[in-house]
Order: sequence, then structure tokens, then C-alpha cells
Amino acid sequence: METIEELKVHYGWTEEDEENLAKVSWLGEKYKEDFIEEFYRYLENFSDTSKYLPDEEVRKRHKEKVKGWFASLFTSKYDAQYLRKLYRIGETHVRIGLPPHYVQASMNFVRNYIADKLTMEMGSTLEANSILKSINKALDINLDVMINSFREEELRLYLASGKYQRLLIENVRRVSWFFDTFIILTLAVVGVFLIFWIVYEIGLVLKGDFPLERGGLSILGSVLVLYAISELLAEEIKHIRGSALSLKVFVGVALAAVIRKILIISLSPEKVQELITLSVVTLSLGVVFWLIYRVESKL
Ligand code: HEM
Repeated sequence: METIEELKVHYGWTEEDEENLAKVSWLGEKYKEDFIEEFYRYLENFSDTSKYLPDEEVRKRHKEKVKGWFASLFTSKYDAQYLRKLYRIGETHVRIGLPPHYVQASMNFVRNYIADKLTMEMGSTLEANSILKSINKALDINLDVMINSFREEELRLYLASGKYQRLLIENVRRVSWFFDTFIILTLAVVGVFLIFWIVYEIGLVLKGDFPLERGGLSILGSVLVLYAISELLAEEIKHIRGSALSLKVFVGVALAAVIRKILIISLSPEKVQELITLSVVTLSLGVVFWLIYRVESKL
């Protein structure tokens, strides 16, 4: 990790920046309560915020810590001790498994929030501009150090393994990348086939070869399967970008396929037995879907 002196050189941090922050040292104290409310409203944009901030106790603790961080952004001396504090925040985020993307995105929110408040208080003067530049540098330094913990954790894990393990990790990564690409291409091709199939079914209905009721239900079923495949594709793309794979999407595809079958069979009253069997399968898949959903949202 870089030292505070190196960071200051890399980000062009000067005496003027320290003075600029000192000029608005009141800003942190004045707005910290409003900031934390807005920040938490913003965090609700992340689909799994409650996974990391699961209950009131953790949220309360986190709110206090973030408020402290916000106020000290303007008042703290940018020295080795401050750097250690930032690094510890990063380590805590690594420990709870928070995706670094969340921290990066949140910092963008903080940047905009401060810019708004500064303009409100000081207008768009030259001085306000210069202060804003210094605040942006401070935020960049903060983000750099916090994100460094994630990079170092990755590196630590990688270096902890021996030469052959590293070779194995590299090759497994390549193979896994090949599998993922193959799956994405296959899903895309299946999706295109399904679109052709839907168009073909619409053609049959229009020509009168397929009764309207049966045709409509069959098309509806095919669209449902197409929707499930598109979900699977989106999930696989997220997986390639580094997220964990969600099992519930696979169950979702199975559900869509069974529901499609039910839609078609529902028009044949003589197939009651088959309909009952498929309903039981749908119910079981629904329960599995719900169980996976509950487990995944707690992880
Ligand atoms: C600008 C972005 C963020 C800042 C400045 C920040 C700040 C902090 C600070 C100061 C701590 C206390 C670290 C310690 O003393 O060990 C902390 C811990 C934590 N942060 Fe963040 N955080 C940010 C983003 C997030 C996000 C996006 C989440 C989740 C969605 C999150 C979840 C947590 C959790 C769960 C803890 C541990 C809380 C505890 O159990 O005490 N943080 N964060």
C-alpha cells in the first residue's frame, strides 16, 4: 500500500487543499444528519443492501460510523493515522464481503451530495470551485485506500498459494471463462430459436391452422420461457462480471417450462391426470424457488 506521502504526491495534495478543507470544516457537522438520511435512502438502490445491513442494530452502528467518517472528511489531518482509519474501513468491508462496486458507487453519491450542499451554501464562486476540487481529491484518496483493501485481499489469497496451485487457478479461470462464454452463446441461440418459434406460432394462428384459444395460450407459454431464458442470460452475464450465480433463476426456467405445459394441457379436459401431476410439480418447484430465494437473500 502507498504511504500518505506517496498518495499526496500522486493526487497533487497541497497545503492549499488542507486550507480549503479547513474553510468548510463546519460543513460536515452541519449536514451529517441530513447526509446519513440521504445516504441510507441511496443505499436502498442496491438490491441486497439488507444482506450487508441486516438489522437495526448494525444499521445504527453503521450510521454512527459513516456520520463520523463524513464529518472527519473535512476536519481530519491527512496523515498516516487517517490513512490507517481508512484502511480499516476497507478491511471491514472486505470482511463482510461487500462488493467493491458498492463502495465506488456510494462515493459517487457522496461527491454529488457535497457538491450540491457546497453550491447551496457558497454559490458557484471561484473559491467554492477551488474548495470543491480539494474535496474531490480527498474523496479520491478515501476511495483509493478503501478499495486497496479489496485488491490486497485478492492478492493475499493469490500469493498464499504455491506455484502449481497458482498455475491451476489460472487454468481453471480460463476454462471457466470458456464455459461461461459457451453458456451465454448457447442461451442466446436458444433465445433466437424461441423467437422464430413464437413468430411461427403466430403465423399458424393467423392462417387458421391453430385454433385461436390454443394458439394464444401456446404463444403465451413460449413467451414465458423466452422471458425465463432472458433472465438466465442476464444472470450469467452478471456471473461473468463477478457476482455469485443465483440458483433460483434455474428453478425459474423449469417453472416457466412447466407452466407452459400446463397452459397447453389445460385445454384438454381428458388429460386431468397429467394436469394434476404437473400442478404438483409446479407447487414443488415453487416451494424450492421460495426456499432458495430466502437463503440467497440472507447470504
Ligand atoms: C462511501 C461509502 C462508505 C463509507 C464511507 C462507509 C463507512 C464505513 C465505516 C466508517 C465503517 C466502520 C468501519 C470500522 O470501524 O471497522 C463501515 C462498516 C460497515 N459498512 Fe460501510 N461505508 C460505505 C459503504 C457501505 C455500503 C455501500 C455498505 C452496504 C451496503 C456498507 C456496509 C457496512 C457494514 C455492514 C459495516 C460493518 C458495520 C458493523 O457491523 O459495525 N458500507 N463502513
